[in-house]
Amino acid sequence: MSNSFEETLRFIRESAQRELAQADTEQKVSQIRVAYLGRKGKLTQLLRGLRELPPGQRPRAGELANALKAELEKQIERLLVRLREEAKQRTLTEEKIDITLPGTPLVRGRLHPITQVMDQIVDIFTKMGFRVAEGPQVELDYYNFEALNIPRDHPARDMHDTFYFSEEVLLRTHTSPVQIRVMESQRPPIQIIAPGVVYRRDSDISHTPMFHQVEGLMVDEGISFVHLKGVLTSFVQQMFGEKTRLRFRPSFFPFTEPSAEVDIGCVICKGKGCRVCGGTGWLEILGSGMVDPEVFKTVGYDPEEVTGFAFGMGIERIAMLKYGINDIRLFFTNDMRFLEQF
Ligand code: PHE
Repeated sequence: MSNSFEETLRFIRESAQRELAQADTEQKVSQIRVAYLGRKGKLTQLLRGLRELPPGQRPRAGELANALKAELEKQIERLLVRLREEAKQRTLTEEKIDITLPGTPLVRGRLHPITQVMDQIVDIFTKMGFRVAEGPQVELDYYNFEALNIPRDHPARDMHDTFYFSEEVLLRTHTSPVQIRVMESQRPPIQIIAPGVVYRRDSDISHTPMFHQVEGLMVDEGISFVHLKGVLTSFVQQMFGEKTRLRFRPSFFPFTEPSAEVDIGCVICKGKGCRVCGGTGWLEILGSGMVDPEVFKTVGYDPEEVTGFAFGMGIERIAMLKYGINDIRLFFTNDMRFLEQF
């Protein structure tokens, strides 16, 4: 056998092994496999060239070349197995989850302060036997004004700054229309509260175009101003504290007679007189009164048979007084720094 054939074989083995020793990825090993053992690989070509050797040398040359081929294949296979195992170990360490790291804190949601105060008010009155009633926000002029004894040219309409859709359709300016709807649809005894959204064209530090009210209505035989005073006094004490001072101050609403506004001792200066209470020591928190006989006639009740009282309060105002908030707009700007305090 020619020396040069054996030398070529040795050369191939050495260079293949040198390259394999440096191969550190599966991909590089595959490239080497192709370069030596592939269809056009160095060793494959050599095997093909065997036929050009003198017949006497062929068997031995073939044996040697095939042995090298088997050896390289085995080496490559072993190397691949090792590299795969190493890659797996690497991913396992690199992607290990460190369970000792502190977790991402979950931010807990909470109810809007207006919702909280609303729920609290509803809770106080339902415990006194009031049931919750509801009415539409898009209301008819009839329910919002007419049936409440506020005819078209009544000056009281000026107080309301109404959003109108048409002559007859508007956004309710108070929750009092729910009184009418409830009385129209059932007979006394009636004892309801109506929490809800109302709208007025007004916007400044203490007014927003949309705000919330809770209405109350109690109608039965023999209901008097004493009931009104008792229910509202109990409410004020539960809402603002046992010791809260309150007074019933004569007032006017077209749908109640007599009417009274309820004031509480100023929560800021405790009655001494300050800027918040305008120096009077008192803060107005709600309107109330005995249901006007005209309203009873409109809904078909006999004012000789039944009497009742009604009241209405603004939730934002109650919340502002309870928590010492000086700008009503804070409730609607969704500033988390404000909302998170409740
Ligand atoms: N509806 C009146 C208002 O919005 C409040 C009120 C309700 C007064 C019921 C008396 C009786 O100002």
